[in-house]
Amino acid sequence: MRTPLIVGNWKMYKTVDEAVHYVKDLCNLVKNINDVNVVIAPTFIALHATAKAVRNNKVKIAAQDLYWKAEGAFTGEISGALIHACGTQYVIIGHSERRAMFAETDTHVRKKVTAALTHSLTPIVCIGETLDQRESGKTFDILDHQIATNLADIKTEQLAQLVIAYEPVWAIGTGKNATPMQAAEAHSHIRSHLASTFGKEAAVQCHIIYGGSVKPKNIQELIAQPDVDGALVGGASLEVQAFFEIISRSRKATV
Ligand code: PGA
Repeated sequence: MRTPLIVGNWKMYKTVDEAVHYVKDLCNLVKNINDVNVVIAPTFIALHATAKAVRNNKVKIAAQDLYWKAEGAFTGEISGALIHACGTQYVIIGHSERRAMFAETDTHVRKKVTAALTHSLTPIVCIGETLDQRESGKTFDILDHQIATNLADIKTEQLAQLVIAYEPVWAIGTGKNATPMQAAEAHSHIRSHLASTFGKEAAVQCHIIYGGSVKPKNIQELIAQPDVDGALVGGASLEVQAFFEIISRSRKATV
């Protein structure tokens, strides 16, 4: 039912030419993989060219952020309408780097999720606790708060169109991934929370992917956990062979 989803988040790396070259290579590498969905999130300036390069292929493109207004005098911002018009299908929202470095709040994330859905983009909503919060036993409270506020405007029938990325902040770019047990526990908690808010039927349709130091060597044990439906990959997505390894090792019997 939930086909594994592997998303490469390139952050602020790669020129447009490098991005196009990479996605063409990736399309070739994954052409025979039908049981994993693959998404690349380049910078805004590479969205149009990469979306064009992957047209009619199984690789899809994501933006790394959006602004919630459709258009207007908002210097420097990019709307869901503009992102969708250049052939993009997904958008990452509320990444911990945006929350920590660019003052993004739960209210901003809530508005961005609605804007994404309005413009036919699949939101990949990032949630997760810091090391302090984990060590003081607050992980589940933080996740509950983020789900409740970030998805406050979501209707039951929209849940299947959402992807939740559980990204413990202490695991991002640190080489310290959550253990399979920690990931399993958090993902199962998130799904239970979704079930209590939206009903079990809707909750089982929502993809919950894991992010934080995912590498070819640890993906298999993470994806083997029943509620881990894929991965959001930063550093290890920058090199096409490593990313392809992660995709190949993500195949599992769909649940
Ligand atoms: P990482 O980044 O794989 O480099 O830890 C993950 C992310 O930021 O989404």
